[in-house]
Parts: sequence; C-alpha cells; structure tokens
Amino acid sequence: MGSRGSNVNVLVIGTGYVGTTTGLVLCEKGHIVTGLDIDDKKVEALSAGRLHFYEKGLPELLKKHLTEKNISFTTDVKTAIEQNDLIFICVGTPKNEDGSANLNAVYSVAKMIGTYMNKYKVVINKSTVPVGTASKVTTVIEAENGKVPFDVVSNPEFLREGSAVYDALHPDRVVIGSSSKKALEMMRQLYAAENSPFIETTPSAAELIKYASNSFLALKISFINQLARLCDNMQVDIDEISKGIGLDHRIGPHFLKAGIGYGGSCFPKDVSALITIAKAEGMDLSILEEVKAINQSQPFYFLEKVEKVIGGLDNKSIAVLGLAFKPGTDDTRESPSLVILDELTSKGCSVKVHDPIVTLSNPYVKQCKDVLDAVAGVDAVLLITDWEEYLKLDWEKVKSTVKQPYVFDGRNVLNKQELVKFGFNYEGIGKP
Ligand code: UGA
Repeated sequence: MGSRGSNVNVLVIGTGYVGTTTGLVLCEKGHIVTGLDIDDKKVEALSAGRLHFYEKGLPELLKKHLTEKNISFTTDVKTAIEQNDLIFICVGTPKNEDGSANLNAVYSVAKMIGTYMNKYKVVINKSTVPVGTASKVTTVIEAENGKVPFDVVSNPEFLREGSAVYDALHPDRVVIGSSSKKALEMMRQLYAAENSPFIETTPSAAELIKYASNSFLALKISFINQLARLCDNMQVDIDEISKGIGLDHRIGPHFLKAGIGYGGSCFPKDVSALITIAKAEGMDLSILEEVKAINQSQPFYFLEKVEKVIGGLDNKSIAVLGLAFKPGTDDTRESPSLVILDELTSKGCSVKVHDPIVTLSNPYVKQCKDVLDAVAGVDAVLLITDWEEYLKLDWEKVKSTVKQPYVFDGRNVLNKQELVKFGFNYEGIGKP
C-alpha cells in the first residue's frame, strides 16, 4: 500500500463514497483525517467501522485506520473546521431536471467553512462541479467571513466505483487547479508520497478536465455500442473490432467493451452537465447529445433483440441477472437494469431477478437469492451486470432448469462456444 509521508491534518466534508475513499487513502499516504458529515447515523456507523455503502477493499482500510487512530468521524462542524487547514469538499452534485449539476450541498458546505474560518485554509473541491464553481465557492466563503485569508483549489477525482481504493492509491494523474502559490505548496506537500504525474493548472481547467474525461470515456462506449449494432447487421464480431482498434496506442484498449450502455452516478450526470455548460456558453456540444442518445437507446436495442428472437415478450418468463450498474458495487443509479425491468414488466413478462449484493424494492419482480432459482423455468436469461459469479456459473446446470434455452448477454462476457455446446441459443451485442 501507499508509503507514509509527513503527517498533515486533513478534513474531509461528506462521508459518501468519494469522501470516505479519499479520507482513507489520505490515511494510507500518511495523513491524519477527520471525516465530517451532518448525518449522525453515518458518522456513528463509520466510527464503529461500518460502511453505509459497498466498495471493495474499503471496510478493511476503515478498520485499519480506525484502529491506528489515523481517521475519526464527527458531526461537530465548528471544531472540525477550526482544527484543520486543508479541507476537502466531497459532497454530492446530483443532476437537476434540466441536466445541470445541483450545487446546493457544495454551497452550503462553503457557507459552513466561511462561518468557522479562524485562520488561513485551503478549501479543496473534489466534488464534480461546473467550470467557475471554485470562484463561486470563494464568493460564498468571503460573504460569511471576509477577513481571514483562504484559497479554493479544484482537485477532481477520477476513481471508479468497484475499484475506488486501487484508483485512489494509483491515480493516472493528480490534477490541481489553483492560482495561489501558497495553496499549491500545501497541495504538493499533501501529495508528496504520490508517484503519479501532477497537472497544475487553473481551477476552471481542472473542473473542465473532470467533465471532459468522463464525457470522453462515455463517448468511447457509445461509439463502440453503435458500431456493435452495425456489426450485428454485418455478421462481424465487435470484440474483434475493439481489439483491433484498441491495440493502436493512440486509441487504447479501454472503454471499448460493447454492451447495454453505461450507467452509474457519473457518466449520465456528467455528460448532461457538460452539454448544459456548453449551452450556457451559447455552444452546442452535439457530439455529446449523440453519445447520450445512443446510450439511452441501447437497452431498448437489446430488448428488441430479445423480443424478436423469443417471439414477443407478452406472458414470457424472464430471468434478469445483475442489477448494479457494474460489478463490484451495490449502486443501481441510472443502471440499464432498471430500464430493462420497467420495459419487461410493462410488456407483460413475469420477471425474476438476481444480484449478488443488490436488493431491489420492486413489487413487480421476484428477487431470488440463488441464481438457479432465478433461471428455473424461464423463457430467456438476460445477463445485465458482468458479475464474476455469472461468468463462473454452471451453465450446463442452468440449461437443465430453464424452460427455453435462450441466453442474451448484455455485456458480451459469456463464452458463446460453451453455451452453444450446452444447447443454448446465445445472443450478444454485435456478436455473430
Ligand atoms: C467513472 C469514471 O470511470 C471515473 O474515472 C470517475 O472518477 C467516476 O466516473 C466519477 O466521476 O466519479 P464509474 O462511474 O464508477 O467511474 O464507473 P466506470 O467503470 O467508468 O463504468 C461506467 C459505466 O460504463 C458502467 O455501467 C460500465 O458497465 C460501463 N462500461 C464501461 C461499458 O459499458 N463499457 C466499457 O468498456 C467500460
């Protein structure tokens, strides 16, 4: 794990998935962290070593740093702010109805910081925020307390759910947006144990780098998904195309896996937010409109295929394997699984679902604890999340329990040859 550098006291405001991971990884780098949240239940649970969300590797880090007293959690806003000079804002920026980012939580934290600012502080924005937010946060803090000097820095996060600990420990780059020498010096000290490239830039550029990164990755996925539809028509294997283009180092192999589309709390939100940011500048980022449209239609493309192959959906019994928007997380926000469940139930299917960790509160579907119960007697099996458990499934056994031998692989991860050998009719996306 990370090397322990010189101790710096850090406050992380917001103990959600980004805040808690950031705090614990800062502990790994040798710092002493306070996690502040207004939700006393979260603080109580974290202080007792319990996480309120699932993230691989994080429970172990939490226990370790609680035991070593490198991290503590509190609801005491005043003391936490007064005692720390480096303050991370890690609160949520959900999507407004018009697609823009909702910054209420960020501004209310900024207000809190301004109220209790007793000496020079660096306020670091890790939440994903529109260009110009650093200066708005500055204005909010100043309005509360104009006398004490401070700087606001943008330091976006690039970690993925499911591999957040690894990503936060081994970032491809650390982006620091600041125009203050003093703040930059403190940030360099904070990240002294980091071996990754540093990008020091303006706060606005740092904010835009975050949106541009997520949007570009989303663009790669929508590109390959639309190409997969062409592959379906032309009887060409999309995975061969991904491999063939991905070996060109200018393109790269990542985020070229075709499937039912991206979900989660980041790509859909950030693509919409960047479109809105451009609109506010009087510009049209039409390329991202298309990325979004392709992604929204991908689950429907998948379901049309199911409908066509099994001869309609009405009165069919379907097993949906996987609810999380990707493996390694219990997050179902914007998960394609939700669209798929809605469509299947509204078209008259009886649906059984299984997920290794997600429990759904949907009265129209039957949730099974065992995968084999979910697939028993169904007309089709739909793989929606590429959990390892499904890749290792005894498909011969599955074959013996289903009513009809149809498998639809929404992530192109199953072994077609093996499934065909067991007597299944296999359909992927862009897989001849
Ligand atoms: C994403 C980014 O990858 C992180 O760098 C960023 O920090 C994070 O958003 C954020 O802004 O907080 P995350 O949403 O956790 O991370 O998940 P990803 O691993 O990027 O996957 C997003 C979606 O794309 C998933 O539904 C996944 O199944 C899908 N995907 C990914 C594909 O369909 N094909 C691919 O080739 C890759």
